[in-house]
Amino acid sequence: HPGAERFIPDTDDLAEMAEAARECRGCDLYRGATQTVFGNGAERARVLMLGEQPGDQEDRQGEPFVGPAGAILRRALVDAGVAERSVYLTNAVKHFRWRRDESRGKRRIHQRPDAGQVAACRPWWLAEVRAVRPEILVALGATAGQALFGSSFRVGSTRGAMLEWQEPGGRTIPVLATIHPSAVLRATDREVAYAGFVGDMRKLAKLLK
Ligand code: URA
Ligand code: SF4
Repeated sequence: HPGAERFIPDTDDLAEMAEAARECRGCDLYRGATQTVFGNGAERARVLMLGEQPGDQEDRQGEPFVGPAGAILRRALVDAGVAERSVYLTNAVKHFRWRRDESRGKRRIHQRPDAGQVAACRPWWLAEVRAVRPEILVALGATAGQALFGSSFRVGSTRGAMLEWQEPGGRTIPVLATIHPSAVLRATDREVAYAGFVGDMRKLAKLLK
């Protein structure tokens, strides 16, 4: 599996891209997943948000951010005053990586994609950035941050900060780094974690004014 490159169509049309991504075999993750979950949103969205990978619900439904983490993200966008039509949502990795819960039979437990899988899937989100041409990128969590900036990226030291990302052969694009919405669900104090996340989304709302 040498990566997604040979599956990328020569087009800036997102629907065509999504169609081609259904056949991707750029790494081994397509084997265990139900379907490719491609990005979704307005063709010319001002913001492109990069998550980690589809979760259980996304894998079943074929759309990004339709599960519990997506609910947090969508609520935070509303609370911060970011219009959903300004946002294109996608993931660093397009297939769900999971393992079986040994104690509870059927449950599928999310596993972080490894660095090789993140590298393999990179051509897909690069193609999405090329097509959407967003003004701002949002890195949701460590995997997204590392996909953009390399393995030394840490969410803790950068969340809420504006960074700059050099698109290969392209533009310099500002990046707002923040936590992954699923971190809100895992936090000991969910309210505090949620308030912090909404605070970061408010920064985004200001940038879009
Ligand atoms: N988490 C992600 O990073 N992406 C999704 O699409 C859903 C959950
Ligand atoms: Fe292709 Fe990405 Fe799926 Fe791997 S995870 S098969 S690179 S779409």
